[in-house]
Amino acid sequence: MKIPRACSIAFLCVAGAAGAQTSTQIYGSACATDIGAIDVFDCANGVAVPVTVDGVAVTDHAPATCDRPALLNNGAGSDGQCVPFSRILNLSTETAQIAVMCRQKRFRAEGSTDFDEIDVIAHNPDTGATCWFQAKADAGAGVSGQNVPSPTAATDASFWQTPEAVVAEDCGVCHDNDPFMYSPFVGQVWADVPVDPFGPYGHVDPGIGFSDWPLHAMNLRDNTCLSCHRIGAGLLMPPDPAQEKPGSCGALAQWMTGQVVPVGADEQASRYPASHAMPPNFGRSEAAWNVIYAQSAADIQSCCADPGQDMCGLAEIQSYLDRAQNR
Ligand code: HEC
Ligand code: HEC
Repeated sequence: MKIPRACSIAFLCVAGAAGAQTSTQIYGSACATDIGAIDVFDCANGVAVPVTVDGVAVTDHAPATCDRPALLNNGAGSDGQCVPFSRILNLSTETAQIAVMCRQKRFRAEGSTDFDEIDVIAHNPDTGATCWFQAKADAGAGVSGQNVPSPTAATDASFWQTPEAVVAEDCGVCHDNDPFMYSPFVGQVWADVPVDPFGPYGHVDPGIGFSDWPLHAMNLRDNTCLSCHRIGAGLLMPPDPAQEKPGSCGALAQWMTGQVVPVGADEQASRYPASHAMPPNFGRSEAAWNVIYAQSAADIQSCCADPGQDMCGLAEIQSYLDRAQNR
């Protein structure tokens, strides 16, 4: 039982003091208040993210390489980065942006209602308040995508992981510049993913640890990569400074600017233009790309490694969450 450290929302304080609520309930009700309640849903209502090889859809197995591999590492024991039938579901309302990804890490036939993971991002574009939920299958099993229980109404860890476990998943260490993450893989169904590239962004955190996630963006002068969205600086004090950062200035930027070929990339994905997913549908030559973007991409890489440089213009991403609530 985690008791909120600050009491800016009265009912959380009362509940904490009474010791009656689990951290799952405390987080769920804070998210429902700050963003909106999320209803029961069904992964089958989502759109399947295609897996193609040389432009041809593969549906009967997970090929080792494909045209647009998933950029989140599916990990050991998975069928690689080209697993068909992950589904994206847009549960957005008038006032909330809600993206669900029902992820397949191992091959299951089309129409399977089981998945390896269900991830939810809920965001209030007015205030920036953002919540994160994850349900995960035990090794070798699947998590059901049918009648998925409401993450904001959960009371225990029977379906959704505890918020402490979600903090440990480091969602916001990758999703560091804005809530929603583009990759060529999800880019295939981008119409079904909400976006808020320049909006306020902060994590709802009734004392659980979400506010330890990085929320600094770069403001480089005349940088052509910053015209469509922010780039985050990742953790300012990474646990291992020698390691590549995972977020929007690090691995993701490298995979989408031709500096590193992502795991699972086929021949087509490894060369220009597919190797340079940023900006999406650039449509001109590699020489033109280099003229417009190469220096900007290099400056971002430099600021990723050393964000304290003057040129990086590091600044905290603004939100309208009560700051006191986040400590
Ligand atoms: C290692 C980096 C990384 C971490 C950690 C991470 N994500 Fe993501 N996430 C991605 C990438 C990359 C994509 C785009 C899909 C792809 O290519 O795999 C994505 C896509 C998503 C999507 C689909 C909608 C969108 O924004 O594209 C959701 C929902 C999501 N993530 C939720 C979560 C949650 C919840 C967590 C933590 C429990 C999490 N993510 C942790 C990298 C990450
Ligand atoms: C013409 C517009 C445009 C330009 C210029 C552009 N991008 Fe993007 N980029 C996008 C869009 C659209 C997304 C998805 C936006 C979102 O998620 O809010 C995106 C997403 C990203 C992401 C994933 C994080 C995220 O917010 O989804 C990274 C990393 C990224 N861009 C890097 C770059 C780099 C590096 C450059 C410069 C070489 C660049 N971009 C230039 C349009 C652009």
